[in-house]
Amino acid sequence: MSEPILEITGLSKRFGGLLALAEVNFSVPAGVVKSLIGPNGAGKTTLFNLITGIFPPTTGEVSFQGKAITGRAPHQIARLGISRTFQTVEVFGEMSALENVMVGQHCRSQGSLLGSGLRLPSVRRTERRVTKLAMELLEFVGLADRAGQPASSLPLGEQKTLEIARALATEPGLICLDEPAGGLNEQETRQLSQLIRAILDRGVTVLLVEHDMSLVMSISDEIVVLQYGQKIAEGTPSQIKQDPQVIAAYLGEDADDA
Ligand SMILES: Nc1ncnc2c1ncn2[C@@H]1O[C@H](COP(=O)(O)OP(=O)(O)O)[C@@H](O)[C@H]1O
Ligand SMILES: [Mg+2]
Repeated sequence: MSEPILEITGLSKRFGGLLALAEVNFSVPAGVVKSLIGPNGAGKTTLFNLITGIFPPTTGEVSFQGKAITGRAPHQIARLGISRTFQTVEVFGEMSALENVMVGQHCRSQGSLLGSGLRLPSVRRTERRVTKLAMELLEFVGLADRAGQPASSLPLGEQKTLEIARALATEPGLICLDEPAGGLNEQETRQLSQLIRAILDRGVTVLLVEHDMSLVMSISDEIVVLQYGQKIAEGTPSQIKQDPQVIAAYLGEDADDA
């Protein structure tokens, strides 16, 4: 197995009286799809919020590419190479699909508001580069023909895909996808599965939170199972499908059908 790109050590998060995450440990090898599964309220999104710097953890550490990132601000973490999508789709509705992806590159592009106002040549060069990469990403996710349309006019599946393109625009080493198949139909879910494989082929490691077990079992190299904030199992899809505790807590008896 390759070196871990992400390491989670003793990570806990308390919200008042609720321990949303309790001493969770796992690592994500570079170049794999690792999935986090578990019942609603298990702490999956909270874990993403800790990894991406939305909240500081109560205890524990997150390290990315060997560097401690615990407690850093979201924009710093994005710049270091971790990006994400949200469980509830969050596109900028009034902006075009292309502009939504361009916003994603903000953490990578130089240049100031003053420079943009003065229309400096360096700013125009940056703008051309940003536009070109954004267009390439729209092509990559299959939304090139939507470039000029307001994001709010796209169907939900395409808004979720657009959010993935925007997350890729930060040129991440690790992308965290929070329930990307939520609300998608079967055909859209198949396309999503192909897109996740294509993301891996770009060299981006994937951390996936998802309830669609046939997607999780077919695409994951490794799975972590959370329940009430605790890691109750970790292993390959076939190990997880047979784990009695996971079956009892989450998968149910017909897990092998997934
Ligand atoms: N910002 C917050 N403030 C208070 N409680 C929260 C907050 N975020 C999550 N929680 C609580 O933490 C627990 C885990 O939530 P979450 O991480 O969203 O679970 P999951 O994504 O696995 O469904 C839930 O009980 C939830 O209500
Ligand atoms: Mg969640």
